[in-house]
Amino acid sequence: MAVATPIQIRFERFNGDMGIAPAKPPRLVAPGERQALVERAKQLLAQRDAVLVAHYYVHPDLQDLAQDTGGTVSDSLEMARFGHAHSAKTIVVAGVRFMGETAKILNPEKRVLMPDLAAECSLDLATPIDAFSSFCDEHPDRAVVVYANTSAAVKARSDWMVTSSIAEKIVAHLHRQGKKILWAPDKHLGDYVQKATGADMLMWNASCVVHDEFKAQQLEELKALHPEAKVLVHPESPASVIRMADAVGSTTGIIQAAERLKAKEYIVATDGGIIHQMRKRMPGVTFIEAPTAGKGATCQSCAHCPWMAMNGLHNLIETLEGAPGHEVHVDPAIGRRAKLPIERMLEFAKANLPALQGSGDA
Ligand code: 13P
Ligand code: SF4
Repeated sequence: MAVATPIQIRFERFNGDMGIAPAKPPRLVAPGERQALVERAKQLLAQRDAVLVAHYYVHPDLQDLAQDTGGTVSDSLEMARFGHAHSAKTIVVAGVRFMGETAKILNPEKRVLMPDLAAECSLDLATPIDAFSSFCDEHPDRAVVVYANTSAAVKARSDWMVTSSIAEKIVAHLHRQGKKILWAPDKHLGDYVQKATGADMLMWNASCVVHDEFKAQQLEELKALHPEAKVLVHPESPASVIRMADAVGSTTGIIQAAERLKAKEYIVATDGGIIHQMRKRMPGVTFIEAPTAGKGATCQSCAHCPWMAMNGLHNLIETLEGAPGHEVHVDPAIGRRAKLPIERMLEFAKANLPALQGSGDA
């Protein structure tokens, strides 16, 4: 049995200290066993009345499985909406823990399972509830807006939850109402939204270990080699990279921008897992991963989220077979409070984002 060794990921804490968190790659799929594993997973999903809700960053095997079995592959907003609207008794989330928690908060009566509950996110890790709660207490005059990439407890301390596809619209809405904002946790997304809306935003300090590594200088060099290529950037990237973008958007937003711009070549500054969907939807178009480090330098993630990569066919099957340690639990009192800002976002999305799209209908 081929088991990869865990890797240690360095991330910046809110106070500037460095933290380390492990990411354990899943058991590898040997050549020749893929088809049987896919068939087994399909059978179990049907038997368990389970729907697979996957993020674009997970392995193509899981993306395809979700699409082939009536689930979805989408961004975090649509993952939340889709799982909530679906009639299945069990939601299996192939993504990272905050996505599983969001599904559980919205659907406390359903079983929510994940292939690996230890799939972290550096933004969530950099936002411990005690420090965050004190920060909020120091600024009672501000509306607390938190990104989806946070714990249930942090969401429970907030007024609004947002994802990257709706952050700008919600902050603009609050700004029009004259509200000042306390924003957490992603500083690059916060900076992008602040510039776009002109809102008064007080920022928490955190970043994504994947997007923070995209480098403007190397992107310039790559762009010189591909002058016709359009640049697509996720707003968790540094401002210097966002400035070079032809389109900035959530993961779904990036795919929609590529369909709209109709270029023959794209440079994509987000986790490379998304390119699987882009190739499926736009055959014949060239997609190039944006550079994450300079010549001779090293990068931790090289544009692949180490925690999203913890989802695989083997641990998905274990999960569906009922192995212990895969069910997401959220303290019911925290869950009830955290549901308010999430529902607020979904209501706002229903009224203001008519084109909510992933792949698959709930
Ligand atoms: P999206 O909501 O754009 O999919 O982003 C989620 C995420 O974690 C990006 O790193
Ligand atoms: Fe978190 Fe970044 Fe991974 Fe997204 S890509 S889950 S923001 S660490």
